[in-house]
Amino acid sequence: MVQPFLLSMRGITKRYPGVEALKGVNLEILPGEVHALVGENGAGKSTLMKLLVGADRADAGEIVFNGRVLAGHTTRDARRAGIGIIYQEFNLIPFLSAVDNIFLGKERTRNAFGFVDSRRQRKEAAELLSSLGIEIDLDVPVKYLSVAQKQLVEIAKALSEQSILLAMDEPSATLTTRELDKLFEIIRRLKAQGISVIYISHRLEEVFEICDRVTVFRDGMGVATRPVCEVNREWLIERMVGRSLSEEFPKVETPVGEELLRVKGLSRAGAFRDVSFSLYRGEILALTGLVGSGRTEVARAIFGADPPDAGQVYFKGRPVRFASPAEATVAGLALLTEDRKSQGLVLGMTVRENVTLSNLAALATAGFVRRKEERAVVDRCIVELFIRTPSREQTVKHLSGGNQQKVVVARWLLSEAELLIFDEPTRGIDVGAKAEIYHLMNRLLAAGKGILMISSELPEVLGMADRIAVMREGRLAGILPRAEATQERIMRLAVA
Ligand SMILES: Nc1ncnc2c1ncn2[C@@H]1O[C@H](COP(=O)(O)OP(=O)(O)OP(=O)(O)O)[C@@H](O)[C@H]1O
Ligand SMILES: [Mg+2]
Repeated sequence: MVQPFLLSMRGITKRYPGVEALKGVNLEILPGEVHALVGENGAGKSTLMKLLVGADRADAGEIVFNGRVLAGHTTRDARRAGIGIIYQEFNLIPFLSAVDNIFLGKERTRNAFGFVDSRRQRKEAAELLSSLGIEIDLDVPVKYLSVAQKQLVEIAKALSEQSILLAMDEPSATLTTRELDKLFEIIRRLKAQGISVIYISHRLEEVFEICDRVTVFRDGMGVATRPVCEVNREWLIERMVGRSLSEEFPKVETPVGEELLRVKGLSRAGAFRDVSFSLYRGEILALTGLVGSGRTEVARAIFGADPPDAGQVYFKGRPVRFASPAEATVAGLALLTEDRKSQGLVLGMTVRENVTLSNLAALATAGFVRRKEERAVVDRCIVELFIRTPSREQTVKHLSGGNQQKVVVARWLLSEAELLIFDEPTRGIDVGAKAEIYHLMNRLLAAGKGILMISSELPEVLGMADRIAVMREGRLAGILPRAEATQERIMRLAVA
């Protein structure tokens, strides 16, 4: 009998201590289709992919791929069978170059003795990356690349493997419009070659743009599979969240107070030039633009992470020059960094410890942490942000990607700081929890704080910001008030 499905997963079950991650999931993938998996943070999407590629073992269920049963398989078996994966968490080795990362485990050899043919590898990698339109330094250790560049290397690595099914677990989370177009081009090309793609994303508009069918996950179960053309955004959200969302962007107009931050003629060689703007209490100033336009660098300069070469920062009316992030923190600033894995979270610590990490001073009397209060605060965060965890004492590395994000965001939402700099605050977070984060931002504004929000997500920028500063190639291209901002106007400023 002809097997109509390239992949069929039936009755897949997986338990972790205290968590039933998958409860009998079915998933069927047709040859040459792009199949979206959507669902709340912790719904089980990544777990299902890990079982598929043999990175973890199912407790029950059956996997048939390309006419063969896959059972007790290793990641190597899956790769040989033709299954590739782009993991949600980067799997690059930080001290190896892009080339070495791409060919790790499948080195091109020169002869029977197995000498690595580094010239050939370099050439192949260069061709692969340029065919993807990616320009990066091939020889530096990948730890020096930006988050977006790492993501592109990750994609190139998966594409170098001649797969017939490619699972992409949130490949777009760190990309902006330009790179996203590139990714979609690649996916269309794969599809034309008959290759199937499993596409996981929290950006629902991508599902409509690139996917043929969609499966919605909810709480460890697949609740529905439909052709994308038969459903709409509201339908997806309702299936995902289990209720309809009254408002995706619950913007509250807050009266604007005094000037909190002023940046004048700020420059840093190689990063940005002559950047000037003010930010007032009670407002969200969005800083947007393409990846690499200098947004994160400006934030880091304000925060004392990389000192500017020229220009002046004023905080609460006084000129300041923070020598370190620690100094900025003491003065009343907080920075939620873009690269959470290396700069925000301590994976080996518990949810409670991570949430209260920089807020312990507020929770302590004479140096003693008020434990009861600490627990109450953490539990409230877990409820308000829907952090899916068996308890506040769970180790953070066991949470799903999006729930790890929520933990860091919770920490900064609790912070005593007056100026909060959020770099991509809702990246990888599901629609329902996003709306809760926006509610909490509203509360911060009402309390007279100010928010500098770096974001690549235009709907979020348009939905939540009071003013929108657009950067282009290290310069401030313009600032749009909320009422005048449109997607087209922002893009026109962002792209030369
Ligand atoms: N190694 C592990 N140990 C304990 N629990 C785990 C482990 N891996 C996953 N889980 C739990 O399984 C559930 C499903 O997680 P999974 O990562 O599959 O979610 P997801 O749908 O990919 O979410 P996200 O959108 O946040 O990436 C979560 O509750 C998670 O905490
Ligand atoms: Mg995931």
